[in-house]
Amino acid sequence: MEIVRRVHSMKEIARQARGRGLKVGLVPTMGYLHEGHLELIRDIDEVADVVVVSIFVNPTQFGPEEDYERYPRDLARDVDLCIDEGVDYLFTPEVNDIYPPGPRAYVEVPELSDRLEGASREGHFRGVATVVLKLLQIVQPHVAAFGQKDAQQAIVVQRMVKDLMLDVELRIVPTVREDDGLAMSSRNRYLSAEERRAAAAIPRARQAVREALAAGKTKADELAAAARAVLEGEPLLRTDYVEVVSRESLTPLNSVETEALLVLAVYCGETRLIDNEPLEAAR
Ligand code: PAJ
Repeated sequence: MEIVRRVHSMKEIARQARGRGLKVGLVPTMGYLHEGHLELIRDIDEVADVVVVSIFVNPTQFGPEEDYERYPRDLARDVDLCIDEGVDYLFTPEVNDIYPPGPRAYVEVPELSDRLEGASREGHFRGVATVVLKLLQIVQPHVAAFGQKDAQQAIVVQRMVKDLMLDVELRIVPTVREDDGLAMSSRNRYLSAEERRAAAAIPRARQAVREALAAGKTKADELAAAARAVLEGEPLLRTDYVEVVSRESLTPLNSVETEALLVLAVYCGETRLIDNEPLEAAR
């Protein structure tokens, strides 16, 4: 595996691979890799000849009060994991190389970016969309993978790719979970033992919604209430939002007619945790 630190080197390597007729795949990450990231890498490895993983803790997607400085970083460990997975290139650019000083262009996907996570984290998806566009421009992969764990992010990126007519196929990989159902996340390491135990209410809330839907409840407010009841039963959790939304537009639905998405965000102590559950009405 080669570690590539400079934007111009990464561009050249990817350009040469494409020139040799190889299929290039990209997995963008912020590092501190866990099994969720590794699933994305394995998924891309199945379909691409050359696997590029990027690790870049992107400052522009963190709010001023957020955890950019203390976001977990462990490059040595990430390098070993990537070698084990057979990654070809690990791209770890510096902030100054991705964001050279001076006036900046950015990309925004309005509406999709303003709701849910965007409402609580102003500017977050502008930062995400901008850095993902930059990474796609640098590597120009044929295929790139994103996790269903960050459902809104996946929808924003899909819309950007479609609307800006980018030539990349996106693969959305199902959420990888801990044994108790908690979605794997680099931020789970912030949780104390007690908070980690409390966080298990999140998968229980998803389960309650699946059961309510299976029992024939299709009204969005009933389904959201089923999740809230579980979350509110756990004193260490503070619910930010629980909503049943359209998978395309992320706008609230009145009921689950065919398919929908349950999205939720909770604070567990200082840590914000998100999860989601694709919903399908029984026929
Ligand atoms: P990061 O949080 O490191 O996640 C990188 C990718 O891994 C994202 O596509 C995310 O959805 C996926 N992922 C994280 N946890 C997962 C899990 N438990 N199961 C499946 N996939 C999971 O998301 C980002 O970084 C950044 O916003 C980024 C896209 C890199 C732009 O900076």
